[in-house]
Amino acid sequence: MSVNYPRLHLMDHPLIHHKISMLRMQETNSKDFRQLVNEIALLIGYEATRDLELHDAPIVTPMMPTTGHFLAKNVCLVPVLRAGLGMVDAMLELLPASRVGHIGLYRDPVTTRPVEYYCKLPPDVKERVAIVLDPMLATGGSAVAAIEFLKKRGVTRIKLVNIIGAPEGVKAVFEAHPDVDIYLGALDEGLNDHAYILPGLGDAGDRLFGTL
Ligand code: PRP
Ligand code: URA
Repeated sequence: MSVNYPRLHLMDHPLIHHKISMLRMQETNSKDFRQLVNEIALLIGYEATRDLELHDAPIVTPMMPTTGHFLAKNVCLVPVLRAGLGMVDAMLELLPASRVGHIGLYRDPVTTRPVEYYCKLPPDVKERVAIVLDPMLATGGSAVAAIEFLKKRGVTRIKLVNIIGAPEGVKAVFEAHPDVDIYLGALDEGLNDHAYILPGLGDAGDRLFGTL
């Protein structure tokens, strides 16, 4: 992208390149697609948690007392339904004490604007770091709306984790929410006339759940 966004964290790791290439292939079936989404989410999730704050506390090993370093703030994982669900298990492996909130959005096929149909967040969400999960960042409409929900409920620290993004979506998110960090597996060329990412991978929700 011509504009340099300091809060865009674009992954550049051979394992992520390899797994995203397999994810894109049209012959990859739903079972393998789910497995790959899980593995990629784990790898991007590792980077997305790199700057989480720590606090020190005394611990005792079998050998001697020492200082332990523990996560200072709890996390709320927020998958955007449906496709974001495919990233939850991997993130819970990294952050087993997290709560999970769900935001249900689908893109109206005519307008491509997000339509809300479900939202359930933990009551203490505003005390947590929210990590929004969605494999695809196309126009950015869904991500912008999901982040707006979280901000309306008082959340102040928000990260967005996507596997594939279009420049249009990245721009839209940073225009609406310049305080959010985006962790992106791959930045693609752009969108087609139906707001699908090119080269992309097609419809992530349909490929995950076999509803093609
Ligand atoms: C997909 C994807 C994102 C959204 C991205 O969901 O999982 O949520 O599109 O597009 P945008 O950036 O233009 O908003 P979709 O609406 O297809 O719903 P689904 O996950 O239920 O299939
Ligand atoms: N949603 C998807 O699942 N794929 C795209 O390319 C765009 C939006």
